[in-house]
Amino acid sequence: MILLTGGLGYLGSHMAARLVEEGHDVVLLDNLSNSNISVLHRLKQLVGREIPFVQMDVRAKKQLQQIFEKFSVTSVVHFAGSKSVNESISQPLDYYDNNVNGLISLLQVMKSTNVKTIVFSSTAAVYGEPESLPIAEDAKQAPITPYGRSKQMCEFILQDLSRAERNWRIAVLRYFNPAGAHESGLIGEIPHGIPNNLMPYIAQVARAERPYLQVFGNDYATIDGTGVRDYIHVQDLISGHSQAITWLSEQTEAFEILNLGRGEGISVMQMLNAFSKAVGHDLPYQVVPRRQGDSASVYADVTHAKRLLGWEAVRTVDDMAIDMWRFYQGLNAD
Ligand SMILES: NC(=O)c1ccc[n+]([C@@H]2O[C@H](COP(=O)([O-])OP(=O)(O)OC[C@H]3O[C@@H](n4cnc5c(N)ncnc54)[C@H](O)[C@@H]3O)[C@@H](O)[C@H]2O)c1
Repeated sequence: MILLTGGLGYLGSHMAARLVEEGHDVVLLDNLSNSNISVLHRLKQLVGREIPFVQMDVRAKKQLQQIFEKFSVTSVVHFAGSKSVNESISQPLDYYDNNVNGLISLLQVMKSTNVKTIVFSSTAAVYGEPESLPIAEDAKQAPITPYGRSKQMCEFILQDLSRAERNWRIAVLRYFNPAGAHESGLIGEIPHGIPNNLMPYIAQVARAERPYLQVFGNDYATIDGTGVRDYIHVQDLISGHSQAITWLSEQTEAFEILNLGRGEGISVMQMLNAFSKAVGHDLPYQVVPRRQGDSASVYADVTHAKRLLGWEAVRTVDDMAIDMWRFYQGLNAD
């Protein structure tokens, strides 16, 4: 039985659908702090059966232990955490508490129930401003926000644990910019308030919930002057997880850090154009000054994941835009 913490979130819900499709038993855990119970109903519609779900906080250790025992958990994908870079700057204590204490609570319960296989959601934010491109896993780490630092701390904890106790099997996956949605249009990233990420923001402009996209700077040394990031379709990202789980199950001990991206930069304007194409008309935008702390370009070196897992992203920017737009169009159905 695979436990997915944060199982009703954007990535967790896609992982749940995939694992069920692949024939795995899964149990989902989520405190609904950044998700909605309607996702569970949509998942049921998608996979054609109930998926066990527990509403709880991963930091509630006693209750967590009971869940491990009740469901005979054998491995974990730990998605639960707080992910807003901006919010982490104004609420650092909440971010360290949820991300770092959440992981410690989980690992303590795993240890006491002898479950030692975990895939951990990390982020390209652990690198900070890149010194060179593409960014490989051994690049210098200098995270610039509490969010990035909280994830870096989690990585240190996992690494120290694997050094102290050799029988853990740990994969740390550093995501670049997940985007898009499930092809069914049933699950995707549900927007809460002002989105931090480009794709949900563009989608809100497309739904006329916001008047225009603010493009932060068009004078960077990039293809068209706008910022470049490594967007990866959520379904490709999930394939990376699925292959990491299979790989871990074949090891007796492991600690691996893997970048998950397309290995290719896409500019804000390129993404806006892809979305405009998906929607069928041009979307309004305005160029505003650069934001402090934004890098011109960030994209991954993905050769390690390719070599180790035989994995690579296959979906295009157009796929991300089309799938995301399909999901957003169906959002009012609940
Ligand atoms: N989506 C991205 O752009 C991105 C990029 C890099 C890394 N990540 C990491 O991937 C993970 C999943 O991201 P996501 O996009 O699915 O985020 P999300 O917010 O959609 O999902 C996280 C889920 O975890 C739940 N949760 C949060 N704290 C919890 C707690 N203490 N106990 C139980 N449930 C809790 C939330 O309710 C939410 O459903 C996060 O750890 C995030 O930091 C995401």
